[in-house]
Amino acid sequence: MSENTFDLVIIGSGPGGYVAAIRGAQLGLNIALVEKSKTLGGTCLNVGCIPSKALLHSTEMYHFAGHGAAAHGIDLTNLSISIDQLMAKKDKTVAQLCGGIEHLMKANKIKVFTGLGILEGDNKVRVRATGEDTVLHAKHTIIATGSASIELPFLPFDGDTVVSSTEAIAFDSVPKKLAVVGAGAIGLELGSVWARLGAEVNVIEFLPVIAPTFDKDVSKMAERLFKKQGLNFYLKTKVTGLKKSKGKQILTAEKAGEVIEFEVDKVLVAVGRKPYTDGLGLETVGIETDDKGRIPVDAHYKTSAASVYAIGDVIPGPMLAHKAEEEAVACVERIAGQAGHVNYDVIPNVIYTEPEIASVGLGVADAKAAGYETKVGKFNFAGNGRAIATDATDGFAKVIADQKTDRILGVQVIAKGASELIASAVAHMEYGGSAEDLARTVHAHPTVSEAIKEAALAVDGNALHSV
Ligand code: NAI
Repeated sequence: MSENTFDLVIIGSGPGGYVAAIRGAQLGLNIALVEKSKTLGGTCLNVGCIPSKALLHSTEMYHFAGHGAAAHGIDLTNLSISIDQLMAKKDKTVAQLCGGIEHLMKANKIKVFTGLGILEGDNKVRVRATGEDTVLHAKHTIIATGSASIELPFLPFDGDTVVSSTEAIAFDSVPKKLAVVGAGAIGLELGSVWARLGAEVNVIEFLPVIAPTFDKDVSKMAERLFKKQGLNFYLKTKVTGLKKSKGKQILTAEKAGEVIEFEVDKVLVAVGRKPYTDGLGLETVGIETDDKGRIPVDAHYKTSAASVYAIGDVIPGPMLAHKAEEEAVACVERIAGQAGHVNYDVIPNVIYTEPEIASVGLGVADAKAAGYETKVGKFNFAGNGRAIATDATDGFAKVIADQKTDRILGVQVIAKGASELIASAVAHMEYGGSAEDLARTVHAHPTVSEAIKEAALAVDGNALHSV
């Protein structure tokens, strides 16, 4: 067997690819991981989830220092922030985590190849690097190449004024006027970061609500709270282009037939992502992508090519790191002859703003559309003792249950720390739990998590700390 023959070759080292590599190694497979970038970790670690969370954390503290600290008797007059230091801190976090993945690869004896992975038939992957190409022979191949930002045809990325999230996590100064196109996860998170640092932020959204994947009451409350933080929203508004006028850059948009103009220094386009399969050689194995550029797979992540699998953002489903990780484990377990499986009904979804927005399962409208009769319990964090003591009273938790069986169908939370709070709801749903199960689960006092229990109690009108 040549040294470049592997049980499994994985293309892409994001949360899908690197997790697949680790799980494969644990199951005794001989693994190669191919990555075109110098660092491992993909979008999530390098330019996505992790750097954005670092910036959100730093700017949240800055915002607190400027707007909340005085109420605690903390005097921070002459407060200032260095964007260089802020970015250096973020870069250090990214470097630490990317280095951590490298370490995990070594510890698991996974061979990493740097270069563009190109399929050459079912069992061969060429690694195109600046020096000499390497050809890998694979019993199985997993495509985990992720996604790239969607570009608007009338507003192409230029890497300077019109940018994607990759550039918007690395501006070297605070833009005076930032326009954000799209009020989804990226638009709201990075819009918040730059608004906290002093930018005038105008968010332009095509739909009538922000955060449109959440229930309307959640979106409405988010809009109200983010407006108080200085974000401006232009809903039902369509961006039409960018022009220069008297030395100024003007973003043009249209609302109900009326033209709106925004003077801008920067425009962040955050209207979604598309599967990334450029130069991958899909045609050499006969894989055809669907109308959205995604690779179709069966329930075991097998593509139309016999030994080629695909997971994560390149296949249908939400483009989320944790979804890719779960698929990675399930896919490799299937390859190894085990019964890996992903429960798509309980994949949490989070926007890491302040407050955070989190959901799992069905919203009220989705549950009704799926034919359920629902009962809903809602609890405001203003009624929670710990929330009152820690400035976390904005928001509510909502439990949606099946009227007939009491089974939890979905949970939505808008609150400080909602990303962590949603986990207990996910666990209950994973085990098919009822609203009563959640309501009778003991939660430590005082914790903000008691609000989740109270929302479950409210499903049958039994919340204790609300009227
Ligand atoms: P998104 O799909 O979350 O939101 C895009 C928004 O843009 C939607 O509200 C959509 O209605 C709006 N839109 C689309 N076309 C438009 C147009 N021409 N003009 C104005 N508005 C328009 O996409 P986003 O925020 O770019 O994120 C990309 C992907 O990355 C998503 O799948 C998201 O789930 C994922 N992601 C997840 C994060 C998280 O879990 N916290 C953080 C960042 C990204």
